[in-house]
Amino acid sequence: MSRTRWKAASRAVIALSGAGALAAGMALVLVTPASAGTTLGASAAEKGRYFGTAVAANKLSDSAYTTILNREFNMVTAENEMKIDATEPQQGQFRYTQADPIVNHARSHGMQVRGHTLAWHGQQPGWMQGMEGTALRNAMLNHVTQVATHYRGQIYSWDVVNEAFADGNSGGRRDSNLQRTGNDWIEAAFRAARAADPGAKLCYNDYNIDNWTWAKTQGVYNMVRDFKARGVPIDCVGFQSHFNNDSPYVSNYRTTLSSFAALGVDVQITELDIQGAPANTYRSVTEDCLAVARCNGITVWGIRDSDSWRSSQTPLLFNSSGQKKAAYDAVLAALNSGTNPTTPPPTTPPPTTPPPTTPPPTTPPPTTPPPTTPPPGQTGCSASVTVNQWNGGFVANVRVTAGSSALNGWTVTLTLPSGATVTNAWSADRSGNSGTTNWTNVSYNGQVGAGQSTEFGFQGTGTAGTLTPTCAPR
Ligand code: XIL
Repeated sequence: MSRTRWKAASRAVIALSGAGALAAGMALVLVTPASAGTTLGASAAEKGRYFGTAVAANKLSDSAYTTILNREFNMVTAENEMKIDATEPQQGQFRYTQADPIVNHARSHGMQVRGHTLAWHGQQPGWMQGMEGTALRNAMLNHVTQVATHYRGQIYSWDVVNEAFADGNSGGRRDSNLQRTGNDWIEAAFRAARAADPGAKLCYNDYNIDNWTWAKTQGVYNMVRDFKARGVPIDCVGFQSHFNNDSPYVSNYRTTLSSFAALGVDVQITELDIQGAPANTYRSVTEDCLAVARCNGITVWGIRDSDSWRSSQTPLLFNSSGQKKAAYDAVLAALNSGTNPTTPPPTTPPPTTPPPTTPPPTTPPPTTPPPTTPPPGQTGCSASVTVNQWNGGFVANVRVTAGSSALNGWTVTLTLPSGATVTNAWSADRSGNSGTTNWTNVSYNGQVGAGQSTEFGFQGTGTAGTLTPTCAPR
């Protein structure tokens, strides 16, 4: 029901109209399911959308975690368990022991599943990291085919390709071993996925494509437009929407969503987290999705702040004790806004921006370069690390950020506590598997513009503890 109709209904109630037909109509409107308006999933469903979260398999035994999961969410994404290193750890040996428990949990609780992800430069198994050319192209296509076939019929939408575009001003592709197999690797992956699971929506997924003025956004937009024009089977675009001080939410986000939708694809918010979890920003994101008919739903990247890959930014809807934060209330109110007459209207004024009935901008992509994040103000470089720890193992992601000058290469040093051993790494060369380890750029990520950053990662056994990386230019 639109906001206008809700108002009309309220007025009718207040007037206590004696018209029998109208009164009967009111009674119908006022009857809603018990759970309506009280959980994210139920409220989103009333708007024809879903509300999802990333799930880590090792947390399914945490009842505080599953209590919130089962109560609030109706869509699930495996946080790491469907990635290439998890599903094909040795070439040709497929392993679903990490992902299947998540899929089974979701299905047995009536939740749907977003598949994440079939082809990506990140979190590749060691055997794939070392591959190039035709061998890699074939291995990638085999991976897409095998995994999509395994989950055929069980996946709502697949992130077929993840993060294939470069940050910064180029608007072009990110260099990677997959990209070096030829520019058509993305469409080849989509065709393989369609053949393997014709029922799944096939998405391209990326970050920093939220701001309509950014070159990366325009690069992806142009690819999707080209794919639609040439009949490449793409159904949706996933906006990771990891918002933070370097990549903040901007009010043109709704323009971005509606512009992509106007190309004839669905849009999904796939990995939402917002540094500090400001309630207003969460509300705006929710309203933006609701304002775009082809926005299927929102997935937050974790349940509690303690579950977040960026937990120090406290970016999620539940605090580490599992209590609802102000952002939760804002999202729920936005989902309920105008639809559920038994719920009080939100106390905040409705958005004054017009609904998205206006056509999306047809103007050509802006030629001005997007804003770059301000350099940290010092020369050299800095490094920060986020660790996802489970019992007996961990994955660490390291972000290398250039200072006020561009880097032509970098070395990161970090010391692991005793008992922790690196088993697998991506996007960096390393010396040392334990104790003090040194990490240097690989061919495609040594050049980092002033104030820009790049990432590498590694997986290990044992406990990573608090890691304090240092960075030096080469
Ligand atoms: C992150 C996970 O949350 C971490 O646990 C893991 O260590 C690294 O990957 N973009 C993506 C996600 O597509 O897969 C990433 O997830 C976050 C950024």
